[in-house]
Amino acid sequence: MRHLLSCADLDLATATGILDLAEEMQQVQSRPVKKLPALRGRTIVNIFFEDSTRTRTSFEIAGKWLSADTINVSAKGSSVSKGESLRDTMLTLDAMGVDCFVIRHSSSGAAAQVASWVRAQVVNAGDGQHEHPTQALLDAYAMRQHFRTVGAEGFAGKKIAIVGDLLHSRVVRSNVLLQHTLGGEVVLVAPPTLLPTGVENWGCQISDDLDPVLGEADIVMMLRVQRERMAGGFFPTEREYTARFGLTEERLAAMKPDAAICHPGPMNRGVEISSAAADAANSLVLDQVAAGVAIRMSVLYHLLGSDEGAVH
Ligand code: CP
Repeated sequence: MRHLLSCADLDLATATGILDLAEEMQQVQSRPVKKLPALRGRTIVNIFFEDSTRTRTSFEIAGKWLSADTINVSAKGSSVSKGESLRDTMLTLDAMGVDCFVIRHSSSGAAAQVASWVRAQVVNAGDGQHEHPTQALLDAYAMRQHFRTVGAEGFAGKKIAIVGDLLHSRVVRSNVLLQHTLGGEVVLVAPPTLLPTGVENWGCQISDDLDPVLGEADIVMMLRVQRERMAGGFFPTEREYTARFGLTEERLAAMKPDAAICHPGPMNRGVEISSAAADAANSLVLDQVAAGVAIRMSVLYHLLGSDEGAVH
């Protein structure tokens, strides 16, 4: 694997290989000395042009636990704030001998564009409203662990409902692509104003009524209402949105037995998800966060851990 830009880059064997290796990587998390020598001598630059808590931190931890040298660069504090272009910034850092860029950018397609400019390998850590492949991988990891606890193996026959602001979500695109590769069935639930253009061609059932879907879904993934990307009125009021599309305490009680709740974070408690649901026993929210480190260790190892992907 040269880059990880999209879940469309992952065939079944590669996706399963990343999930399987992440299980081994997760064991490092519970050791007193959290260090493997696998990426000693490799240099990873995490360059984030948008805010992040989970993704940036877990990529940094993942790189450090694999003994890579990890450097964080953010637009604020770099020469981007003086007007340097994305291309010049990336070529400048590339010229320093970086092995891998982990990049987040507000423009859809930015990670692929960067990959076409630089010699280093590139991981897309979220590009605009396009994709967030490592998020979908960690979601799948947490779901697979959950399915095992309820006596099921794999994704075949599993119904994953993805609910909320699909229009502005990069998580939904990556999840749909990955779930279709793994064999899961995805149901999309949103108000018509928050559906992306062309969603009817994604191969998913689409609904604007959460209640009947709740009784059938094995996983209910709630997506954040992305207020910062909303210029106009996509729904009348937040209260009305919550009443129709929120995972309220009442809806929590209506979920199928053995079903679990996911949210990629950050959460708007009281809007798309109630605190009762976010903190419920069947909430995988913190399992997803924990899986983030293991998945990112696995991805970095797949990219940089063998000579196959090396460019220098
Ligand atoms: N889920 C996610 O990408 O979170 P951050 O924005 O905190 O990285």
